Amino acid sequence: MSNPHAPLLSVLNGDICSPPPMWLMRQAGRYLPEYRDVRKSVASFLDLCLTPKLAAEVTLQPLRRFPFDASIVFSDILIVPFALGQTVAFVEGEGPKLDPVRDGKVLAKLGLTGAQGRLSPVYETVERVVAGLPAGVPLIGFCGAPWTVATYMVEGAGSKDQAGARALAYRDPEMFQVLIDMLVETSAAYLLGQVDAGCRALQIFDSWSGSLPEDGFAKWCIAPTKAIVARVKAQAPEIPIIGFPRGAGPSAVRYARETGVDAVGCDTSLPLEWIRDTLQPLGPVQGNLDPVLLAAGGPELDARVRLILAELGDGPHIFNLGHGILPETPIENVERLVRLVKGEAFA
Ligand code: CP3
Repeated sequence: MSNPHAPLLSVLNGDICSPPPMWLMRQAGRYLPEYRDVRKSVASFLDLCLTPKLAAEVTLQPLRRFPFDASIVFSDILIVPFALGQTVAFVEGEGPKLDPVRDGKVLAKLGLTGAQGRLSPVYETVERVVAGLPAGVPLIGFCGAPWTVATYMVEGAGSKDQAGARALAYRDPEMFQVLIDMLVETSAAYLLGQVDAGCRALQIFDSWSGSLPEDGFAKWCIAPTKAIVARVKAQAPEIPIIGFPRGAGPSAVRYARETGVDAVGCDTSLPLEWIRDTLQPLGPVQGNLDPVLLAAGGPELDARVRLILAELGDGPHIFNLGHGILPETPIENVERLVRLVKGEAFA
């Protein structure tokens, strides 16, 4: 059922809203001085994710500055490997570092036992955030898609082209499938846990789906995402799910048709006309301003935002970036963006 008081949920239900609801991927984070202050008070980024009081605080920070139409739980997609028992650390200036899963022996040490308990601080964060959110602003829960999370688990870090994970998937598809199945099961339970705690929408981040060829995309991106969506929908059919197959290109059509997601997140590279004519007829779309342009600002930003609004405004659209906001983004540019999208509503 459409919710007239929550524009995000209306659009996810297929309605057209003008202006469109907006939020920004990674809207809580380093571009905000108040985030940097909280971050300084804890030893590690993972500690921040696992301390509900602080995670709830940073989740709410962007909402105090900007009239966004959604909030997103402050956590990370790599909390799931952590819950499965893998060593996960975030190294300042270098990004995530994990104990790589390169063979069946290492994989056998990981498991579902205890995973829900290790995720429970996130559920507490959700409860705290929901209690503090303005009316009409739903909280989005999320997880990484199995393929993207597996690339970090296998390679032990971020990589340029995910070649290590792709090579393992080609050389030992049975073992890779065991890993993917474990991620499907944990991620579905994790999303349902976030719903039980109060999330009203979900997003599945497949940041590296673009590194897979057509058959790999079907096997390692579409199939596991479809399995997660089916499990979540079986328990919580009323909760809309946004899928974000970053870099999928034309395969985003198959993704929209086959995974069962309610809406598709569009990355920066997808042409607006193509989104409008090919993807939007299949369901609501989200995106796709270049985060680099938001950081740069100026007349190019104004022109591009107006173009996105014009091209996608005749169908269900959620305004967002095409990838996460950059730490160097000036706050004035975010304020400008909100004025451009919301018009006079935000003076
Ligand atoms: O959107 C939000 O505000 C919610 C929080 C959120 C974070 N990560 C916080 C974070 C979300 C939704 C994510 C998702 C995530 N994490 C993805 C998928 C989306 C994408 O960006 O492609 C991926 C691939 C990760 C893995 C990850 N986490 C990397 C590669 C890094 C290091 C790079 C970096 O930006 O530093 C992180 C760390 C991370 N996750 C930070 C934040 C705010 C920065 C760490 C810090 O503040 O010290």
